Amino acid sequence: MAKIIVIYYSRSGNTEKMAQAIGEGIKKEKVEADVKDVKDVDLDGLPGYDAIIMGSPTYYGSMAAEIKKLLDTSVKFHGKLEGKIGAAFSSSANIAGGNETTVLDILNAMLIHGMIIQGDCQGDHYGPVAIGPPDSRSRNECVRLGMRTARLVKKIAGE
Ligand SMILES: Cc1cc2nc3c(=O)[nH]c(=O)nc-3n(C[C@H](O)[C@H](O)[C@H](O)COP(=O)(O)O)c2cc1C
Repeated sequence: MAKIIVIYYSRSGNTEKMAQAIGEGIKKEKVEADVKDVKDVDLDGLPGYDAIIMGSPTYYGSMAAEIKKLLDTSVKFHGKLEGKIGAAFSSSANIAGGNETTVLDILNAMLIHGMIIQGDCQGDHYGPVAIGPPDSRSRNECVRLGMRTARLVKKIAGE
């Protein structure tokens, strides 16, 4: 059965709320979802997932060091994540505070892993963003990302 991991770092809970909403969306599509704080991620288990979705608070326009560390450590799987689906999300304090650049920085690393990134022609084009805690608009984008990623995973798996 297809499974997706949602990895987040969150100091004050905003990014964590987004991660939980993405997990809900994945489960709506009857796909297994593991929503995990980055500190609890079993790195060696990552190649076993069909999709990896990562979220970070925006820190100085980019991801928090905890997420960057995971990505840097993932060099040990270089080549093994090829063809898996990737997606990203972020919470910042301000509009134009760098949440989109944070999302793009995570996606950039995923592309270097050879992962497949699906853009969004509606809502949040690069990945869900929130200003502080997710409001209903942002929460909806998170649920949509979970559902769309799960549907893509099933499509690629021929399910
Ligand atoms: C070290 C640090 C750097 C930050 N840099 C930015 C920033 O560049 N732009 C911004 O809008 N918010 C910035 N913030 C605010 C956080 O992105 C924001 O509060 C976010 O919602 C926190 O998410 P969390 O509750 O998941 O930890 C920063 C916060 C910290 C602690």
